[in-house]
Amino acid sequence: MLLHIPQVLTPDELARAQALLAEAPWIAGRTTAGPQAASVKHNQQLPVACPQSQALQAIVLGALDRQTLFFSAALPKRVLPPMFNRYAASADGVGDHYGDHVDQAIRHIPSGPLAGQRVRTDLSCTLFLADPASYDGGELVITDTFGSPRIKLPAGDAVLYPGTSVHRVEPVTRGVRLASFFWIESLVRSDEQRRLLFDMDMALMRLRGRHGEDADAVSLTGTYHNLLRMWADT
Ligand code: NI
Repeated sequence: MLLHIPQVLTPDELARAQALLAEAPWIAGRTTAGPQAASVKHNQQLPVACPQSQALQAIVLGALDRQTLFFSAALPKRVLPPMFNRYAASADGVGDHYGDHVDQAIRHIPSGPLAGQRVRTDLSCTLFLADPASYDGGELVITDTFGSPRIKLPAGDAVLYPGTSVHRVEPVTRGVRLASFFWIESLVRSDEQRRLLFDMDMALMRLRGRHGEDADAVSLTGTYHNLLRMWADT
């Protein structure tokens, strides 16, 4: 499933994030990629331990905490600390881009109390941080059973997609594309089961909105939780 989550960041959070990104110490992005991905990765990233990264992570994680859509769709067990990247146009040659690749299945938490622990990357999330009118190219192209959509979202919006997908970022031909990206290990490993739970949760919210907490809504909510109990791995 591919899900667009609008307005993850408030305008104030976005402005704070953009100010931090403007003074950030960028380094070559290939330093954190596996061997296959590194050969096609041409962009910049923030070092995970720099003060700007830490402040940006707090903004993004705080914003995610408010997002019921994110929680319902991802059913997060663990979220890797968000990272930040920059793709710039080039005056002579091809602008920054990231060719087709699949993200590593297992990643390690880099720092903090859970440092070194393994996280399975069930879901990937990209949070767009630059105004799409300020750059050309830079579409995130995700190839999966749903086709190959070309995704370029308003600043502050996010897209959630299966970690199993082949994806790429098209060359930036004007301006600078800024984004946050991170991975989620879900309580429910199967994309198919997670999708069923998400659809049911959304339908239940609409039902409750129309009819209130009636006996059938309570019964179906019970079924939702019983399915989650059957499928979740805590
Ligand atoms: Ni990737």
